[in-house]
Amino acid sequence: MKTPKLVSLAVGLTMATALMVSTAAQTMAAAPAKATAPAKAVAPAPATKAAAPAPAKAKVPLTNDDCVKCHTTPPADIEEAGGWHKKVGCTNCHMGHRPSSKNNIPSCNQCHEGKPHYNLKGQCGNCHKNPHKPKYITFANNVTEACVTCHTQQIAQLKEFKSKHSALYCSTCHNVHGRIPQCVQCHKPHAPTMVQADCAKCHKAHQPKNVKYASTVPSKDCAACHKKAYDLLTASTSKHKTLACVYCHQEKHKMVPKCQDCHGVPHPAGMLAKFPKCGDCHSIAHDLNHWSSQAPAAKPAAHAKPAKKK
Ligand code: HEC
Ligand code: HEC
Ligand code: HEC
Ligand code: HEC
Ligand code: HEC
Ligand code: HEC
Ligand code: HEC
Ligand code: HEC
Ligand code: HEC
Ligand code: HEC
Ligand code: HEC
Ligand code: HEC
Repeated sequence: MKTPKLVSLAVGLTMATALMVSTAAQTMAAAPAKATAPAKAVAPAPATKAAAPAPAKAKVPLTNDDCVKCHTTPPADIEEAGGWHKKVGCTNCHMGHRPSSKNNIPSCNQCHEGKPHYNLKGQCGNCHKNPHKPKYITFANNVTEACVTCHTQQIAQLKEFKSKHSALYCSTCHNVHGRIPQCVQCHKPHAPTMVQADCAKCHKAHQPKNVKYASTVPSKDCAACHKKAYDLLTASTSKHKTLACVYCHQEKHKMVPKCQDCHGVPHPAGMLAKFPKCGDCHSIAHDLNHWSSQAPAAKPAAHAKPAKKK
């Protein structure tokens, strides 16, 4: 943290103009820094300790090198994690000093303007807690508005697909910036054999009720909630037994296929006109051609229903 800071400041920064204007008062101090061995030449540093009380006496402006003589933490923080602010330099943010100027704390918006994120006026310090380490960001667990100044897709999904997650704050789940939470932090898996990595096969965090899945999801995952269907199918002796649940119930939860989707017109039209329901002869898909007591579509039931309605 030697003098060249000010030089790079003037050269590289996107907000050079803002800085130039705001630092007009200090160009006198800054300009000499461009010269080769300026600091010592300018600051009458010889009287180190004595120089401290001195400002009252002579109007020698403070330079960036002076600050560390009395303030240790900010220079150390900037050195460690100042990022861009390291290049900005103390006196471009802190213009003036006690006693001649008490109000030498800058507003962030002095230099940061023009993006939605920078409209969070007055809130900057809630997250960027230390201006000397601007990239050290922490936030409370009730933040949403500030996140959506940069991330727009997630809020759009949460609004379009209403679920109980839509009522949570972003930072209830993402309590450290960039960290992805595990579903199992807050939820129990549907079956003891299910682990965190399985959740994404069926759920997306920002639309958790819009359950969609690929054709590779194993039947045991469905069995966690549909034990009866699973047991019937695996005990069945028909060729359907070898098919995965998702082979028939494709892509989206609660999709129910029609027999004809796969089998077309398997019998003469006359026969199907007389017996339009495949199930009248084949029973149910999970237990084809078998009329077990468990099978819900068993003939007795089928006949019982119309009777009830009339
Ligand atoms: C001679 C010692 C000395 C030097 C050199 C010095 N300061 Fe200070 N600074 C102080 C004292 C004393 C205070 C008042 C602290 C307090 O009230 O707690 C102070 C307060 C501050 C504050 C707090 C705001 C305020 O008004 O209370 C800032 C910011 C600050 N200094 C920045 C700087 C910067 C930047 C430099 C270098 C350009 C610098 N100081 C150089 C002694 C110094
Ligand atoms: C005197 C001007 C100035 C002030 C005041 C200022 N900044 Fe900056 N800041 C800059 C410049 C210049 C950059 C680098 C260019 C950019 O990112 O726009 C920067 C970069 C940053 C970065 C990115 C850091 C990096 O290394 O990528 C953060 C975060 C930031 N500023 C936050 C703040 C916050 C919060 C405040 C108020 C406490 C603040 N700034 C006040 C000039 C300033
Ligand atoms: C990007 C702008 C920026 C830069 C660069 C910057 N500061 Fe600060 N500084 C601030 C802001 C904003 C505060 C007020 C923080 C707060 O209110 O919590 C502050 C607070 C301070 C304080 C008083 C509170 C404290 O933390 O002790 C001192 C002293 C200080 N700065 C010194 C320095 C010194 C020395 C440098 C250079 C090594 C420096 N600052 C560089 C923006 C900056
Ligand atoms: C809710 C927390 C939060 C608040 C409030 C907040 N920031 Fe940020 N800020 C962030 C996060 C998170 C990042 C992204 C850091 C990253 O890129 O890893 C960021 C990045 C930045 C950056 C650098 C990247 C960029 O896109 O410009 C600047 C500059 C910045 N903030 C300035 C500000 C200013 C100025 C304010 C107040 C007007 C502010 N921030 C308020 C959380 C916040
Ligand atoms: C100033 C802009 C900014 C703000 C404000 C901001 N972020 Fe980010 N966020 C970023 C950037 C930039 C990244 C890095 C993107 C990347 O790696 O693709 C990021 C990354 C993330 C990631 C990780 C993405 C991944 O693919 O792993 C999550 C999660 C995240 N942010 C959540 C949040 C939350 C929650 C908030 C509010 C508390 C927030 N962000 C505020 C800019 C921001
Ligand atoms: C930080 C905790 C947290 C995390 C992490 C989390 N959830 Fe939730 N989730 C909740 C809360 C709270 C509810 C509402 C519970 C209630 O009211 O009964 C909920 C509800 C749900 C619901 C029911 C939604 C509704 O509207 O009925 C589903 C589905 C769900 N979560 C799936 C997931 C999945 C999948 C993940 C991982 C991608 C996940 N959750 C991550 C806290 C969390
Ligand atoms: C219920 C917990 C929860 C809530 C609430 C939540 N997220 Fe997420 N977020 C996650 C999980 C888990 C992931 C990992 C991807 C997945 O499972 O779909 C994620 C992924 C992300 C990502 C990485 C990119 C992506 O979309 O996959 C970003 C950015 C993000 N979330 C931002 C946000 C923002 C902004 C909000 C608030 C509007 C928010 N999240 C609300 C849990 C949550
Ligand atoms: C094979 C697909 C599938 C997998 C894998 C899966 N889920 Fe689900 N989950 C569902 C379906 C389908 C529902 C919705 C049932 C309904 O409509 O009521 C659901 C509902 C939920 C609910 C709402 C409450 C409840 O129990 O009905 C939560 C919470 C949940 N899942 C969390 C998880 C978590 C955590 C994981 C990973 C460990 C996970 N899910 C893995 C399909 C799956
Ligand atoms: C978290 C538990 C859960 C998981 C896991 C789950 N389901 Fe469901 N499923 C339900 C619930 C609850 C219902 C609604 C039952 C009702 O309405 O009586 C349902 C209904 C269904 C229906 C019937 C729709 C209708 O119109 O009658 C089908 C088909 C279905 N699920 C298939 C699947 C498939 C295939 C899988 C695996 C990819 C699966 N389910 C995973 C809970 C789950
Ligand atoms: C998603 C496609 C699909 C759906 C929907 C479907 N099936 Fe099948 N079905 C198959 C496949 C694949 C076979 C095995 C063909 C083979 O191996 O030759 C099969 C075989 C059969 C067989 C011969 C069984 C045996 O063991 O020889 C019958 C009968 C049958 N299906 C009837 C039905 C009926 C009735 C329905 C509706 C309740 C239905 N299927 C729904 C794909 C489907
Ligand atoms: C051959 C295609 C096929 C396969 C494989 C299949 N189903 Fe079905 N499923 C159907 C059809 C067709 C229906 C509509 C009722 C009928 O006609 O049998 C149905 C109905 C359902 C229903 C709603 C009615 C009920 O019986 O509860 C659920 C839930 C269900 N299936 C879940 C599953 C699960 C879980 C699996 C895997 C263990 C599975 N299905 C495998 C075709 C299939
Ligand atoms: C009137 C009773 C009846 C009805 C209704 C009926 N089937 Fe059949 N189906 C049969 C008989 C009998 C067989 C021959 C069984 C055998 O050979 O074991 C058969 C065989 C099949 C086969 C196996 C053909 C093969 O090549 O092995 C399929 C697939 C099939 N039916 C699908 C359907 C579908 C889909 C429907 C509804 C559109 C339906 N059936 C309606 C009685 C019926």
